[in-house]
Amino acid sequence: MKTTDVRRDIPLLDELIYLDAASTTPTPRPVVESMNDYFYSYNANTGRGSYGLVVKATHELELARKKIANFVNSYPEEIIFTKNTTESINIVAHGLSWNRGDNIIVSNMEHHSNLVPWFNLKKLGVEVKIIKADENGVIDPDEVEKAMDEHTRLVTISHVSNSIGSVQPVDEISKIVEDKDAFYLIDAAQSVGHIDINLKKLKADLVAFPGHKGLLGPVGTGLLYCTRDFSAELEPLNLGGGTVENVTENNFELTEAPACFEGGTQNIAGFIGLGSAVDYLERIGMSKIERHSKKITRIMYQEIQNIENAQVYGSPENIYGIVSFNIDNINPHDLAKLLDAVKSICVRSGFHCAMPSIRHMGANQLGGTVRASIHYYNTREEIEIFGETLQEISKLH
Ligand code: ALA
Repeated sequence: MKTTDVRRDIPLLDELIYLDAASTTPTPRPVVESMNDYFYSYNANTGRGSYGLVVKATHELELARKKIANFVNSYPEEIIFTKNTTESINIVAHGLSWNRGDNIIVSNMEHHSNLVPWFNLKKLGVEVKIIKADENGVIDPDEVEKAMDEHTRLVTISHVSNSIGSVQPVDEISKIVEDKDAFYLIDAAQSVGHIDINLKKLKADLVAFPGHKGLLGPVGTGLLYCTRDFSAELEPLNLGGGTVENVTENNFELTEAPACFEGGTQNIAGFIGLGSAVDYLERIGMSKIERHSKKITRIMYQEIQNIENAQVYGSPENIYGIVSFNIDNINPHDLAKLLDAVKSICVRSGFHCAMPSIRHMGANQLGGTVRASIHYYNTREEIEIFGETLQEISKLH
């Protein structure tokens, strides 16, 4: 499938230039249609009943799990359905039994969702060690190794920074953690669906990722990949219907993963839609998506760098899908509003729920950055209009 085919499936792209994939991506028509099909033809609660509608809904939901597992090279029982990446990370933070003196290693380039749940554990006597990135927002794996000791329980890092798009050396860090007695969690919120991810090769114990960004699925879908070994260590956060094998008058016996982590009625339509979204990405082809996104990122970086009074964060060799920048004397929110008003260009502005990373890049006093982020549906022409519009705005200030 070509970019033009995908654009035909996303009508809102005719109306505006959407450069905010890092927040959420628009949902292609076949994904919406598969959800409509659920609502119109077999709307029932999964695993709760034996009539045909329930059997069909359960089958479709589990088929979606298989498709998603297959897409990232894992097993269906390793894929836990959540509502977003944040919830996936919180399942880990709340589910491990922490001891006073344990430590967690995390970088200063993280989204708040991969910081706040760990900071919250300080009240249990858990130490949080922060690894500082270099001037381009990249972590040195040696720093991770130096910080690790016999009390390190968890090392966690985002694959691609949501604030400036810097790509972290997750493979090298994996080799370091592999030899040690610690778990490894990757926040892949900005990489799955953008970069071809093979979870077995990544060798993380846990990977948290959303359905509604790179995967082109609907909002309200998130995932936690959790290896079979690790799920045995983890206490479910949300107990109730669907999570148990047996309940007596005063006790219960948990069922196996992933069901034990999926209490209550799920976002059935959403995950069925996500299964279709994965089919859709496979029809395009991940290698094609990667090639296109690398090219568009490079062009976008260049367009912005050509503006005399612009400051672009991160190095062009090491960012993917996201370009963060400022133009002298223009507040990032004002610039984002102007882009929208002048040419219906949608970008995010501010701190991007990643305040420490913005502080690290020196953009704190400026009120954050403007962030433009892309997917396969974005075209060179759109990026050129974006660049020209920025040039014009910059000259007026
Ligand atoms: N996590 C999303 C972002 O970075 C919402 O914009």
